[in-house]
Amino acid sequence: MDEIVGFYDELAATYESDRFENSYGKFIDEQERKILHRLLTHSEERILDMPCGSGRFLNFAQIGIDGSKEMVRISSAKFPNKHIFQADAENTGLEDHSIDTIISFHFFMHLDEVKVKRILQECERILKPKGRIIFDIPSAKRRKLIQYKRTNWHGGFSLNNEAVRELNPNFEIRQNFGILFVPIHRIPKRIRPLFRTIDRILSNSFLKEYSSYQIFELVKK
Ligand SMILES: C[S@@+](CC[C@H](N)C(=O)[O-])C[C@H]1O[C@@H](n2cnc3c(N)ncnc32)[C@H](O)[C@@H]1O
Repeated sequence: MDEIVGFYDELAATYESDRFENSYGKFIDEQERKILHRLLTHSEERILDMPCGSGRFLNFAQIGIDGSKEMVRISSAKFPNKHIFQADAENTGLEDHSIDTIISFHFFMHLDEVKVKRILQECERILKPKGRIIFDIPSAKRRKLIQYKRTNWHGGFSLNNEAVRELNPNFEIRQNFGILFVPIHRIPKRIRPLFRTIDRILSNSFLKEYSSYQIFELVKK
């Protein structure tokens, strides 16, 4: 089994409570959900959550895939009426041009450019014309600024806007959103609401490429 899938397979049962129940995780989860609510407005859309993990965002999708058997077991138990199965994102087995939108969170950051490019080719194959992929990625500009040192694969990959554009010439960036300009989780709780507002403004200003993460909406040309 692939190292990354093996890692998540082992912690599948506690993945969501470990990552998204502390103040940092809650903030990120909340921002991501807001953006998904804003972008996913067509009820007839066929949406794939890839990888769906333990189902954090499966309420937005009808189909979920994940490389981890354990993640698939947990998410299938939570959403028994959805089509959820184990597959590599590079080779989903889904039909050509069968999906309107793919959502892909906390995923590309663990991979490398070669793997992300291969996955985008698979996305291109399964998406309908003008289909889109919505994904998050740490900001390479921010990381350069703070002199981030990569330790291993975990969250180790980042991109700037130009590099996102170059991943696949058959996609174009429709919009991008910044997340976590200010380190909200390090700010005392009582003044956090003020900083949330500041964060929202800065993350969506001309400085958004310097937020910790960006969410991209790429559209198939
Ligand atoms: C950090 S979790 C993210 C899950 C979910 N998208 C979320 O945001 O909560 C990363 C997931 O990617 C899955 N994964 C890693 N490599 C994969 C691959 N090549 N194909 C499919 N799934 C993969 C892991 O099993 C894990 O469930």
